[in-house]
Formats: sequence, structure tokens, C-alpha cells
Amino acid sequence: MKTISIVQIGVGGVGRELVTQLLAARGALAARYGFRLEYLALADSAGALVSGTPLPEAAIQAAMRAKGAGDSLAASPAGRAIQSWEALLPEGPCVVVDVTAASGHEGPLARAVAAGHRVVLANKKPLSAAWADFVALTAGGATRYETTAGAGLPVVSTLQGLLDSGDALTKIEAAMSGTLGYLCAELEAGVPLSTAVRAAHRLGYTEPDPRDDLSGADVARKALILARTCGLPWELADIPAEPWFSPDLAAVGRDVFMGRLEELDELFAARVAAARAEGAALRYVATVTPGRASVGLKMVPATHPLASLRGPDNLFSFTTARYAAQPLVVRGPGAGQEVTAAGVLADIVATARTVGA
Ligand SMILES: NC(=O)c1ccc[n+]([C@@H]2O[C@H](COP(=O)([O-])OP(=O)(O)OC[C@H]3O[C@@H](n4cnc5c(N)ncnc54)[C@H](OP(=O)(O)O)[C@@H]3O)[C@@H](O)[C@H]2O)c1
Repeated sequence: MKTISIVQIGVGGVGRELVTQLLAARGALAARYGFRLEYLALADSAGALVSGTPLPEAAIQAAMRAKGAGDSLAASPAGRAIQSWEALLPEGPCVVVDVTAASGHEGPLARAVAAGHRVVLANKKPLSAAWADFVALTAGGATRYETTAGAGLPVVSTLQGLLDSGDALTKIEAAMSGTLGYLCAELEAGVPLSTAVRAAHRLGYTEPDPRDDLSGADVARKALILARTCGLPWELADIPAEPWFSPDLAAVGRDVFMGRLEELDELFAARVAAARAEGAALRYVATVTPGRASVGLKMVPATHPLASLRGPDNLFSFTTARYAAQPLVVRGPGAGQEVTAAGVLADIVATARTVGA
């Protein structure tokens, strides 16, 4: 039976769930497709589980339990400290799976592709670095990245399918931040922004510093990846993202920012009221057309699919030459470890099915 070797970088929330799902699925995948998925190495930010041959399942499970309890991979019996995960890649082809949120992986990943490896990414950063890096990773079809926008939802594959079959993009409109979707729903329910942000922070819906969500930068990265998937050779700086806070609130510490949230309440209450007066809904929308992209709070007409969105779900609306009168819409949960890991596993399986074909 054909063996598909996997080197997985990142064993955080998504990474450990991926290990669980992959180990549970590989028997059925072997029966269905005639290949066996084998972990050759698993890495975190400081160490790796690696032996030079496929890792025994019991060692992987034990290391994942220890990792979940807060240990590092370097401390596990089959583990060791590493300087860089690049040295873990074998001579022969493997699938490199990046489930970190780390910067700077575009260079090593591009070298991996050049060396004949395949890549699967949940990490948006390698694809939202320079355009040349995106090309190096994706041009030969060696890299899959479905979960970088919309988590487990079929967003990238839908877009690629449309374009590959000769359709032409008119416009993508998307709400792709669960956190900002939650805030929009709270604002529409009459909750002041300060209360909504503090609640989201307390419930763990935001990053530790909520400005990482409120800056719109994460949405801009996803919009850039979708634009680049359409062949648009843009950089992150070409996609202005409207932040939810003023420049002076960008410059203060996190606790000061949280204490000054009331300063934003009046402005946001006015924007909600203005939208309501127009019979529209307020949504944080990424818009990509062949000419430009933007990310910001927009009034969307009540008839638009985005207006029907409530809370943290994502929605992607594709208007194309073929889907001109009614857009093609993909909607559902756009975050969560389980659905994200499942999306990464689907990318690994799709990759494995083409290896050696
Ligand atoms: N959670 C979601 O719903 C979701 C949805 C779509 C996409 N994603 C993406 O999935 C990725 C992983 O998310 P997560 O929630 O699992 O993150 P996480 O819990 O923070 O885990 C990140 C993992 O990456 C490791 N890591 C960081 N820098 C590294 C480096 N330079 N080399 C090797 N390993 C490194 C960390 O190591 P340590 O354990 O040593 O810190 C950790 O194991 C992110 O890019 C995220 O944006 C997540």
C-alpha cells in the first residue's frame, strides 16, 4: 500500500484536533483509496516528535495528551528540541501541514514545494506575505489552503471551481469574522459597543487584545487570499481595512483601550440608527472586485444575503458572469477547531489522492 508521509507544524487547538481526526480516519481512507497516512514528524514552536520512520500511534497519542496538558513536544519521550522545522522534511516527498499562526514560513514552505513536497495550510500568513511568495507556493498546484478563509466551509474550492470552469468574477462580498459578526448582531439588538466588546472578550470570542479582531487585519488577509486566488497580484497594503477604533486608541495599552471603549459607543449607535433608517443592516464586509478590494462596516440592503446573517456565522457571496442574477452563496460556521481540522484533513486527503497519480 502507498504511504503518504506527513510533517505537521503546529499542535495547538486545531493541530491536536487534526491529529485525532486523521488517526481515526486513516483506516477508512486506506480501504477507500489504497494509501496510508503516516506522521513522520510533528512540531511545535520549540520541539518535535520525530524518529526518522513513521511515528507509532501510541507515541503520538501520548505526546498529544502531554501537549494538551501544557508540556512541549521536546519534553515527550520521542521528542527533541529543534531550531527549525525545515530540517524535519525528508528526502522523499511528503505533505507539509502548517497549522500554526506563525509569520515567516513562506520561505521554508516555498523551498519545500521546490523540493517536491506538497503543502496544506490553515495558516494565512504564508499566503498573505508578498505576491511572489503566493505564486511560489501555489503556481504549480502543490498547495491547498481551503481553511484560510471560512474555516471548513468550501470557499476556496468553490471559487477555484468557478474560475477553472471559465466563469469570470464580478464581485465577492463576504462576512468572514465570527467575532465581528457577533458584535454586529449585538449592536443591532441595541447593545452598546463597549458592552458587546467586553462580553465578547470575557467569553473568549476575541483575541486576547480585541484590537487584533477590531483592526480588520485578519479579514483583510482572507480577502487578499481570495483576491490572489482570482489571479489578482495584490499586496496586503492594497486592501484598506477600516478599524473599529481611532488611531489614538491604537496607541494605548490593552487595559487602557478596554477602559476607554465607551468613547466609541455614540458613533456606533449612530451608524446602527442610520442603517435602520435606510432599512439596511450593518455588516463588516470584505468586498473583492477585479479592480479593487476593501474591508469595512457597510450598510447592506435588507434583500442582500448578508443582511440575513445573524451572529458569528460566515457568508460568502460570489457574483460572477454565470451567477449574475443571483449570487452563489456559501454560508455556515466559519470558525471552530473541529470544522477547521476537518477542512485541513480534507485538503490532506485531496492532496494524497493526487500524489503519484
Ligand atoms: N481556530 C479556528 O477556528 C481557526 C479557523 C481557521 C483557521 N485557523 C488557523 O489555524 C491555525 C492554528 O490555529 P490554532 O487555534 O490551533 O492556534 P494555536 O492553538 O495558537 O496553536 C498554534 C500552534 O503552532 C505552534 N507554533 C507557533 N509558531 C511556530 C513555529 N514557528 N514553528 C512551529 N510551530 C509553531 C504553536 O506551538 P506551541 O504549542 O509551542 O506554542 C502551537 O502548537 C492559525 O493559523 C489559525 O488562524 C483557525
